[in-house]
Amino acid sequence: MRRNTETIRSIARDPATGIVTIIDQTQLPHRFVLVPLTSMAQAAHAIRAMLVRGAPLIGATAAYGVALAMRADPSDGALAGSLDVLGRTRPTAVNLMWAFARMRDALARLSPSARPDAAMALADAIAEEDVALCRAMGAHGVALIDSIARRKAGRVNILTHCNAGALATVDIGTATAPIYAALDKGLDIHVWVDETRPRNQGASLTAFELLSAGVPHTVIPDNTGGHLMRQGLVDLVIVGTDRVAANGDVANKIGTYLKALAARDNGVPFYVALPSPTLDLTLASGDLIPIEERGGEEVSHMSGLTAQGTIETVRVVPDGSPVANFGFDVTPARLVTGLITERGVIAANRTALVAAFGDRESRAA
Ligand code: MRU
Repeated sequence: MRRNTETIRSIARDPATGIVTIIDQTQLPHRFVLVPLTSMAQAAHAIRAMLVRGAPLIGATAAYGVALAMRADPSDGALAGSLDVLGRTRPTAVNLMWAFARMRDALARLSPSARPDAAMALADAIAEEDVALCRAMGAHGVALIDSIARRKAGRVNILTHCNAGALATVDIGTATAPIYAALDKGLDIHVWVDETRPRNQGASLTAFELLSAGVPHTVIPDNTGGHLMRQGLVDLVIVGTDRVAANGDVANKIGTYLKALAARDNGVPFYVALPSPTLDLTLASGDLIPIEERGGEEVSHMSGLTAQGTIETVRVVPDGSPVANFGFDVTPARLVTGLITERGVIAANRTALVAAFGDRESRAA
């Protein structure tokens, strides 16, 4: 995996063979395995089992899932049926419904015979657009890092949570886009990477991609951020998001809210990188965002690489202790310093969001 992945993206379709390929993220950072997707069922499984994850990548994979469904059967029934299957995979990331709505609206207007090629072309376009959105967020967000670098002597310390990087998108990432742009600009940066229990997307994925890209970083247990902020060792927080409501409330990986609280208490700016497909203007507030609850085994067990080179899963909770596994939390807009969008850095409130994105179509499928 490289950051500027003209050759290896988180999802890609080979123009010659037409094969759609993903990286199996469940095997990272220990094994780099590419997996072909040849059917909608495989795309749905990849999303549900988190071979792919991260809101923008879930959206792109759903788009290819619809395209694969159309290749097998371009009928109206199959188009509607693809929502039944794909739409139930992951509830919080609105990009999935956004991508599906876009595919459905375009394909429903076409005759069935025209749908297979048009669907693949539109899925390709959605993937390419995601790369462009991330680059634009990087260009806007790097100014925040640059202004801190100008104010202080020494490196700029950025804290991030979960993986909102190249692996959560088609390429470049949302929260990482300004970080990569800062690196390209020669700014002296360092990233605190929250491990992000229970699935460890920070330790496994963000660390993996920052290491590959040569970004100085340190992995920390999730509970460390508050301590670092009190010590003056965090200059800003940048996280991604799975859905932003019309009032600017932000759903993101569980634990994000606690980082926002600590940031507010310590006067640390807290930014959220938001590509417009993650905006849900149909929801008045974050209270209405569905929060995914995942299987308890993600909490009760952990996987890792043994000294023998095998990947093993072990139990870390007493057999019989109940566990809870809420995938996401909502950070109230009042704790968000700003939203880094493809159209600039804006305030996290309805007025700013409607002014910037009111021209965009509804996100509901
Ligand atoms: O459960 P995941 O791994 O899909 O959660 C991902 C996150 O919470 C990311 O921070 C979010 O999707 C933003 S990705 C650009």
